[in-house]
Amino acid sequence: MDVFYRGTSLTYKVIGGVFDFYFFAGPTPLGVIDQYTSFVGRPAPMPYWSLGFHQCRWGYHNLSVVEDVVANYQKAQIPLDVIWNDDDHMDGHKDFTLNPINYPHSKLSAFLDKIHSIGMKYIVLIDPGIAVNSSYGVYQRGISNDVFIKYEDEPYLAQVWPGAVYFPDFLNPKTVSWWGDEIRRFHELVPVDGLWIDMNEASNFCSGKCTIPKGKQCPTGTGPGWDCCLDCKNITKTRWDAPPYKINASGLQKPVGFKTIATSAVHYNGVLEYDAHSLYGFSQSIATHKALQGLEGKRPFILSRSTYVGSGQYAAHWTGDNQGTWENLRYSISTMLNFGIFGVPMVGSDICGFYPQPTEELCNRWIEVGAFYPFSRDHANYYSPRQELYQWESVAESARNALGMRYKLLPYLYTLNYEAHISGAPIARPLFFSFPTYTEVYGLSTQFLLGSSLMVSPVLEQGKSEVTALFPPGSWYSLFDITQTITSKGGLKVTLDAPLHVVNVHLYQNTILPMQQGGMISKEARKTPFNLIVTFPAGVSDGEARGNLFIDDDELPEMKLGNGYSTYIDFYATVAKGTVKVWSEVQEGKFALAQGLYIEKISVLGLDGSGQASALEIDGKPVTNASNIELSTTKQNVLEDGGDKVKIVMVEIKDLSLDVGKNFAITWNMGTKG
Ligand code: GLC
Repeated sequence: MDVFYRGTSLTYKVIGGVFDFYFFAGPTPLGVIDQYTSFVGRPAPMPYWSLGFHQCRWGYHNLSVVEDVVANYQKAQIPLDVIWNDDDHMDGHKDFTLNPINYPHSKLSAFLDKIHSIGMKYIVLIDPGIAVNSSYGVYQRGISNDVFIKYEDEPYLAQVWPGAVYFPDFLNPKTVSWWGDEIRRFHELVPVDGLWIDMNEASNFCSGKCTIPKGKQCPTGTGPGWDCCLDCKNITKTRWDAPPYKINASGLQKPVGFKTIATSAVHYNGVLEYDAHSLYGFSQSIATHKALQGLEGKRPFILSRSTYVGSGQYAAHWTGDNQGTWENLRYSISTMLNFGIFGVPMVGSDICGFYPQPTEELCNRWIEVGAFYPFSRDHANYYSPRQELYQWESVAESARNALGMRYKLLPYLYTLNYEAHISGAPIARPLFFSFPTYTEVYGLSTQFLLGSSLMVSPVLEQGKSEVTALFPPGSWYSLFDITQTITSKGGLKVTLDAPLHVVNVHLYQNTILPMQQGGMISKEARKTPFNLIVTFPAGVSDGEARGNLFIDDDELPEMKLGNGYSTYIDFYATVAKGTVKVWSEVQEGKFALAQGLYIEKISVLGLDGSGQASALEIDGKPVTNASNIELSTTKQNVLEDGGDKVKIVMVEIKDLSLDVGKNFAITWNMGTKG
């Protein structure tokens, strides 16, 4: 279909099908997504490690290069959870194979044992196109199970990286079993932790009806060729191939079947590609999800390029082959925000761009944005120069800074992943989600929120060392320096310092943010002590704040309370009549207790500056000097929009050892100084 949006009207120009219109009334933005995802499917739970940083590239020519990348991340002290292979590990680009020279099985196994022992993960690519090759087991079993899409009763012939291929028909239950079996076989050979399903629109380098050319090598050259080398003819004889209305396919008025599966090709039960085209990647996601879940009973991780309504229930998504340009960096934010709204909250773009090569400055700025994508992965094209974050010292520094913060925020991101799973709430959100009556933010996609309260305001232009950001009404606390506050009654535009290694992230008032100490890998970071950051509206005498935390055994397929392997906590704080109270209400504390998790520090921001903290009590008992718990009051800096100059302080309680898995209550007084 073609869809035209003209401000006050939407026009659908379609070449088939029946319209069912559903309206989700909200009335809040989160309400709309809750209703929509309860209808199309809630976003999949993601494993904890998938919220760590991922490094990928097309063109890791052999295993030593991959080993070297991992070692260099460690050396540069940049966090890394997942290392990926594109199709370089494959034998002749064939799915589920290993190149015996460049990725020998025994060496790869030893490498995987090594990285798995420290908690790192490994993901590889698979494409749907199965090489037509009579000595290739995956192909042989596919033929004998009759799993492929047909054209005139024969498997439909197309071309992708390995050359001639057939496309599995994931609408066919037999194909789903065969695919599951191939994944199981491969997993026995290479214990991958997730799968990347690419080119599943489906992408075809040819169009129409093709045959394998006789006496000619196809593909011809070296390296990844994407020129069609099959002998092909256009198919025009049916209305399925040449419908009377020409949709704007490929933006070029090409035939509907251009560089994909011919629209008159046939799926299971006689369903035409014409009617099922948009379901291809979705049906592959479902089949792959089923296969991975069946393997070890673990929570699957799947990354898919093609998505459809409901894909979020099975897969994460990256935004495809972007460019290493400033424009594409900016564009990545609106795309990410859209996918959150579509119910696919685990989303990100190739950090530093897929092609062409980014400049050093762009890559610095990109990791400062990408460190806050829900799905954070650096990936590059075969022909691009290397762009791992350690390749430039300046980028490494920006990465340590921004990813260092991400790894401290992992408990918050994971809790957002849980919220996405139970209510559809996007992980990354446009500002209007939290400020629906503040119309100034409606069109804003140069800043974004993680959850309801954490705002990222990155530099998105070349040569800048400042960024002008919009702060909706209320108080915002800089996450990298919590003594810095911006507060306004009606919203404020502020030009912030943003030298190359600085990204501005602010936390909104009325929030309790659970953070940990970070680290080089999420497996270790998630064991470290917690600190809570509590934010009140600057200087308020009567206020409250809230936050929450979900933790579980992320290997379990389900993410839920009540299975004995998860804990959920609500955090509350109030200030009233000079008394501050911070407390927790724990559900199913057993899991957190078994992990030995504890809260070490609580920082309360925005308290009335005329006060000084004293008379600390924990669970109703006064804290004596002998307990070594430190209570301090520090002045905070405030930038305000006119009016009274508010004076505020931050109170910190350090050296605590409060079990995350048990309710606690802390109080103290904010007596007047002197
Ligand atoms: C496609 C993917 C890209 C991948 C390449 C080779 O272009 O979008 O991410 O690197 O294929 O597999």
